[in-house]
Amino acid sequence: MEKKIFIKTFGCQMNEYDSDRIYDSVKKIGFKKTNDQKNADCYVLNTCHIRDKAKEKVYHEIGRVKKIYRRKKKPILIVAGCVAQAENQEMLKREPYIDIVIGPQSYHKINELLKKSATNPKNEETEFDTISKFEYFDKIKNTGNKVSAFLTIQEGCDKFCNFCVVPFTRGPEYSRPLKKILNEAEILIKNGAKEITLLGQNVNAYSYFENSKEYRISNLINELEKYSELKRIRYTTSHPRDMTDDLIDCYLNNKKLMPFVHLPIQSGSNKILKLMNRKHTVEDYLNIYERLKKINPKIEFSSDFIISYPGETNDDFNDTLNLVKKIKFINSYSFIFSPRPGTKAAELKLIDNEVSKERLNEIQKNLFNYQINKNRSFEGKSVEVLVENRMHNQFKLFGRNEFNNSVIFEGNENNIGKIIKVKIENTNQNSLFGKIENNKNMKAA
Ligand code: SAM
Ligand code: SF4
Ligand code: F3S
Repeated sequence: MEKKIFIKTFGCQMNEYDSDRIYDSVKKIGFKKTNDQKNADCYVLNTCHIRDKAKEKVYHEIGRVKKIYRRKKKPILIVAGCVAQAENQEMLKREPYIDIVIGPQSYHKINELLKKSATNPKNEETEFDTISKFEYFDKIKNTGNKVSAFLTIQEGCDKFCNFCVVPFTRGPEYSRPLKKILNEAEILIKNGAKEITLLGQNVNAYSYFENSKEYRISNLINELEKYSELKRIRYTTSHPRDMTDDLIDCYLNNKKLMPFVHLPIQSGSNKILKLMNRKHTVEDYLNIYERLKKINPKIEFSSDFIISYPGETNDDFNDTLNLVKKIKFINSYSFIFSPRPGTKAAELKLIDNEVSKERLNEIQKNLFNYQINKNRSFEGKSVEVLVENRMHNQFKLFGRNEFNNSVIFEGNENNIGKIIKVKIENTNQNSLFGKIENNKNMKAA
C-alpha cells in the first residue's frame, strides 16, 4: 500500500533543495508526498540551526505533531537538516517521539533507515559523507518540475566566520563534478525549468578540478547559458572573497544572468568584520559593487546584516547605516547577533538587548525604505516576468521580475513557464501587482 510522507522545511534554499531530493529518494520505496500534515505515515522536519531558538522550535513542532496524532497511528518522525547534525544523539534521548535523526550529509541513507525503522525503532546518522551523498543522488533522477528550479552545486564552508554554525553543520567545502551538475540541469530543463538558481553555502567558492583544469561557477554559468530553453540564471549565497574576475566578467557576457546580486556583507565596519573573521573589508565590497555597476548600472544588490555583534559600538553601527545608505540594497536580511554553541563568538559579551533592538529597528527602517522605494519605482512601468505558478487558493498568477521581486497578477494558466510583460499598478514592501500587457508583447520562453 502507498505510504504518505509530509515534509516541512525550515531555513535556506539548500534545505528546500534537499527536501525535494529526500522525496526523490523515498519515492523509490513507495512513499508519496502529501500536503496534509494530519495524515502522514512519515513526517519529516528539515531543520535550520542558524540562529538561537532553532532547536526549541523543533521541539515545539514535535509537540504539535504529537497533538495532531494523539488519537491516530504515530507517523515515523524524522528530524533532518542542520539541527539534526548539531544535536544528533541528544535529540533521540530528549524526545522519544523522534524515530530518526539524519544530518544533511547522510541523506543517501534515508531509505535504508526508513526500512530499518520497522525493526530498529531509533536511528541516528550524522556522518559527513558528502561524496557518497551526491553520488547516490546523481543516480536518482531529480523529478522536480518547477519553472524556477534550485540546483545545489557546492556544499559546506571552510571560512569559519566566528558567529556561524554552517561549517559545523554542513562540514567542509565540497564542489560537485561539473558534468553531474550539467546532467541534472538538463533533466530540470526537460522537466520544464526556465530558471535555475545555483545553490551553495558559498556558491561562488565552487571549484572543481578535472585533468588539472579548475572549473569555477563562471564555467557553469557559461555552460548553462547555452541551453536555449533556459531563460534565467541566478546563484546564491555568494561570499565577497569569491567574487573573482571571471565571475564578474559573466555580467559582461551572459544575457541570462539576472542583474541582481545577493552578496552578504554582515557589517559596514572593518573593525567588526575583522572580529567576525569575515576575511574581507568594506572597501573590498565597495570595489565589487562599483565594478559590477560599471558593467551594468541596472544591477541591484541585496545583503545579510548581523546587528550588535559583540564589540559593535554606535560608531560601528553608524558605519553599517552609512553603507546601507550608499548602496541602497533592494532587499536584505538583518538579524540581531545570536550566539551559537560551538562557535568562537558564543562566549563573547552580548550587547544590551534594548540597544540591539533599537539598532535593528533603525537599520530595518532604512532597508525597508529602499525596498519600498525601489518597488514604487516600477509603478506605471512594464516589467518582464517569468510566470511560475498559480497562487495557492487564488485566481492570481505568481512570477518574478529580473530583480527577483514577486509579481502578482490575473491571467491564464497558459502563461506559466513564459516570460511576459506585466504593467505594474500597485506595490507594497514585498510585492508588485499589475496587469498583463497585450499578448503581442509576449515572449515565448
Ligand atoms: N555564506 C554566506 C555568507 O558568508 O555570506 C551566508 C550563509 S548563512 C547560512 C546566512 C546568514 O545567516 C548570514 O549571512 C548571516 O547574516 C546570518 N547568520 C549566521 N550566523 C548568525 C548568527 N549567529 N546570528 C545572527 N545571524 C547569523
Ligand atoms: Fe557561515 Fe561565514 Fe561560511 Fe557564510 S562564509 S556559511 S557566514 S562561516
Ligand atoms: Fe540553516 Fe543549515 Fe541553511 S543552519 S541556513 S539550514 S545551511
